[in-house]
Amino acid sequence: MRAIHGGDFWKVWGEEFQDLEDRSDIVPADVLDAWFEPSPRVIEVLSNNVAWMCRTSPPTHAEGFRRTISRVRGIAESALLTSSGSSTILFQGLPLLIKAGDRALILDPTYGEYSHVLENTLQICVERFALQAESGFEVDFAALMKRVTNSAYKLVALVNPNSPTGSLLSREQILELCKAAPETMFWIDETYVDYASTGNSVETDTESFRNLIVCKSMSKAYALSGLRVAYACGPPDFVLKMNTLTPPWAISLPGQLSGVYALLDESYYLGRWALTRELRHLLAKELNQLRLGQALEGAANFIMLMLDPRGPTALEVKNACESAGVFVREIGSMGETGGAYSLRIAVRSAEENRRIVTALESASLFIEQASHPRSTQGPWL
Ligand SMILES: Cc1ncc(COP(=O)(O)O)c(C=O)c1O
Repeated sequence: MRAIHGGDFWKVWGEEFQDLEDRSDIVPADVLDAWFEPSPRVIEVLSNNVAWMCRTSPPTHAEGFRRTISRVRGIAESALLTSSGSSTILFQGLPLLIKAGDRALILDPTYGEYSHVLENTLQICVERFALQAESGFEVDFAALMKRVTNSAYKLVALVNPNSPTGSLLSREQILELCKAAPETMFWIDETYVDYASTGNSVETDTESFRNLIVCKSMSKAYALSGLRVAYACGPPDFVLKMNTLTPPWAISLPGQLSGVYALLDESYYLGRWALTRELRHLLAKELNQLRLGQALEGAANFIMLMLDPRGPTALEVKNACESAGVFVREIGSMGETGGAYSLRIAVRSAEENRRIVTALESASLFIEQASHPRSTQGPWL
């Protein structure tokens, strides 16, 4: 049993990489990879050293990469660990924190690997904090605080900003939760936090809070998904245990090099994140003009589109978009809330976003004409 993910476009590109010549026909907006390229400094170092990188063992435990993170992000080395993608960190780290019989809390809907690892591999009875469509899937902080302080959870895992909703808790709110429930371990997944305005990360706070772990993928915000680079920070005893479990050479040499050079070019990425926010804003506006439902802009590099339930389902729209080469994500597998009529759409380049809007418009018109009579009145919430 595995969690469900996007990536259906690989069926067109060819999973054996046999069809890589022309990739421009596809808009892969069902995964949340960056629409922009990695820093030019990353591209230069990779391009100039391909053959050498292929045949050379990387630093065994990514020592230089860890030192760079420590220096650039202001986190003590003793609080830091690195690995081949945050998926690896999640699969190795969560079992150290919780066992069968303990209680855990996650948001609903949220990134599917959390329920998968906790329920399917660790047999934990996971409770859900349901986000409500009526309030635009924002996290009701007062209610979350009450739930967390009254329930003695062993673990609370929060994706911040959350996927697929894009809803964001502030740094102060996360720290308030940590203070209010000192016996609970808070696992904060900051895969998308860099896309929100600055100041929301709690990564440097892990030194002050023994019940805080931050898991940080460099896949999406640094455009390194294919290289599998991530780090986490938390209490030294957790870091030590993780280090014992992490195999040598876990991150490839291209991965370590890219991680270092990317972190050294923060100004490039700050510009890309700011531009992503502009593109997101424009895409949300155009999606709302289609009157298919309501586009929730959120704080990350994606939009949640809540379709009018009187029209086609998310699955119908997703399938119809695929025939135009546009891949979007139907979120039914990410929780019990909002499933059948919600899509998650990655923010892509301006040109690709135009294709997304056109494909969604044609898809819904086509389906509607075929089967669903629909009023033109909105809004639907
Ligand atoms: C919230 C969240 N966490 C973790 C991951 C895994 O990222 P990676 O393994 O590429 O670091 C993803 C990937 O989509 C994600 O959306």
